[in-house]
Amino acid sequence: MHKLISNKCLTIQSAVPESYILPPERRPSVVPPCKTIPVIDLQGLHRDRTDLIQKIIKASQEYGFFQLTNHGVSEQLMQDVLVVGKEFFDLPGEEKERFYSEDTNQKCRLKSSLNYDEEKVHFWRESFRHPCHPLEDYIHEWPQNPARYREVFGSYSIGVRKVGLLLLDLICEGLGLECGYFGGELSQGLLMSINHYPLCPDPSLVLGLPKHGDPYLLTLLNQGHVAGLQVLKDEQWLAVEPISNAFVVNINHMLQIISNGKLKSADHRVVPSSNAARTTVVSFIRPSNDSLIEPAKSLLVNECRPPLYKSCRCIDFLGSYRTDTIRQEKDPLERYMV
Ligand code: OGA
Ligand code: NI
Repeated sequence: MHKLISNKCLTIQSAVPESYILPPERRPSVVPPCKTIPVIDLQGLHRDRTDLIQKIIKASQEYGFFQLTNHGVSEQLMQDVLVVGKEFFDLPGEEKERFYSEDTNQKCRLKSSLNYDEEKVHFWRESFRHPCHPLEDYIHEWPQNPARYREVFGSYSIGVRKVGLLLLDLICEGLGLECGYFGGELSQGLLMSINHYPLCPDPSLVLGLPKHGDPYLLTLLNQGHVAGLQVLKDEQWLAVEPISNAFVVNINHMLQIISNGKLKSADHRVVPSSNAARTTVVSFIRPSNDSLIEPAKSLLVNECRPPLYKSCRCIDFLGSYRTDTIRQEKDPLERYMV
């Protein structure tokens, strides 16, 4: 448990441990909070469906990111997962230890940083992650302490999956793909990651998460009220302002491949704060391991465009993504380009 920052913080008080300090060229620059990503109101669906779909496609092409309001998951549930997620990280060390593992095959696990044993410098993050769908296959592996964990995360995962699948249906329509393209195997999985970025004595020296793109289909982030997420657009970092109860949605690598590069999986990173600890709940909609990921055939035919990416199995993509992000020398999509 020496690898968890929350345990170290008790003794470090005012200094960032050496092993977390990035070389000067990799430290975060100060980002002005002026420009930000598009905000889309899902209620617009009942007023003008075509207009809403266009907004989603435009944001997904230009930014790869948007914030979604009025999405149907209740404010109470949006708040409850953040509270219960934080309660989990506030548990005593021995209680959390049961879930700590370096084994990437362990489904329900607590980890520190990105790849603690393989990386040169550590990141200021702890994360607890587990699959959520189908719920009955996984819920018995989730923590029983905090007492409300299973109930709250169970309800939340059902709600967030519904929003994710609706967004995929709208994206499907917007791309002109056959109805239900993302149903079935492609959106079979739901992975939840509860991220905790402890209060940091000097955020200018560290990163909570380094620049990365998410590998799956779609991410829905509940980021609470503490800022910290930054998105890269036209080589400029944009800070994503917290909006109460909104989801921050982003296009993932596999959706970029399926859309043949039409939708963009933008890089992003996280900076911790010296004012408050930050807990976020991240939901990834993901294909089953055996799914074939490739540019949609109907899209290539309709637009008379050659495929930009080769076909690959989901599990193989995730394997190479892991290697590429550890080494941090290559865009994980590059090796699948035609
Ligand atoms: C992630 C991620 C952002 C956040 O987990 O991939 O980008 O604000 N998280 O926690
Ligand atoms: Ni991410």
